[in-house]
Amino acid sequence: MLKTIECPRCQEIFTTSGEFQETKKVICPRCNLEGKVSFKSSDKYIIEAQNLHKIYDGGKIRVHALQGVSLQIKKGEMVAIMGVSGCGKTTLLNCLSGLDSLTEGSILIEGRNLNAMSDEEKTDYRATKMGFIFQFYNLLPVLSAIENVELPLLVAKIKPAVARKRALEALKMVGLDGWESHKPSELSGGQRQRVTIARSLVNHPLIVFGDEPTGDLDSKTSEEIMNLLCRLNAEYKQTFILVTHDSKIAEKTHRVLVMGSGVIKKEYRPMLR
Ligand SMILES: Nc1ncnc2c1ncn2[C@@H]1O[C@H](COP(=O)(O)OP(=O)(O)OP(=O)(O)O)[C@@H](O)[C@H]1O
Ligand SMILES: [Mg+2]
Repeated sequence: MLKTIECPRCQEIFTTSGEFQETKKVICPRCNLEGKVSFKSSDKYIIEAQNLHKIYDGGKIRVHALQGVSLQIKKGEMVAIMGVSGCGKTTLLNCLSGLDSLTEGSILIEGRNLNAMSDEEKTDYRATKMGFIFQFYNLLPVLSAIENVELPLLVAKIKPAVARKRALEALKMVGLDGWESHKPSELSGGQRQRVTIARSLVNHPLIVFGDEPTGDLDSKTSEEIMNLLCRLNAEYKQTFILVTHDSKIAEKTHRVLVMGSGVIKKEYRPMLR
């Protein structure tokens, strides 16, 4: 993490680097004044990631999937991650959400060090604060729409009556009231993805991770789904991190991070926002 410092004695401006939550001694390069700098997380950011490395080591084959990714994501921000196939987008998403472990680096979520959480704490954190939308629905085929949506709440030991009420609200939010008792096989691709979105939002997560959330949909349906996500982002101020190959999706977000070979190559703000 880099910090710009202005010396209180001689007003020299210089930078220093440090780890998250570290307090470090610094010396002004001009007048030699000594001081302390702390690298605390800021309330502004919900995610602060520093120098992330991920190496998949399968014996003979070793893949360095993340090669030093640093990023900060603001609360309520909607960010797209783009880049060619194999550049590390899914790996980054899995590491940021604590689904996968890092080889090196640190991640602060709401100022909490993800690496320092136990597996149980991470699972609990994911269940209560995070939502996930994957490309291939991941809905259970034997369950109806409402049963799929209420499942994460029942797993989190919410009372069945409360879970049912919240699942109904979530289905309504995505425009699927009236479709509660339909099984996934009785729904269109767009409707199934709406069920997934309702399920990802049912616990009112702070952060929603989407890995190609519209990847399997036609362009009209994917536009509808993206408009829905933008509306939810504006209304509920949830943070969205969406991996996408579709520039039409990316241009509706606040910021686009472009990855290549395990690093963030560039970022830009779409003109539409
Ligand atoms: N579980 C794993 N074991 C070994 N290597 C892996 C594993 N998961 C991903 N990789 C490798 O890490 C690299 C990054 O993969 P990742 O899935 O993050 O790419 P991606 O950008 O999401 O690609 P796509 O756009 O095709 O989904 C690839 O070279 C991939 O082969
Ligand atoms: Mg991927």
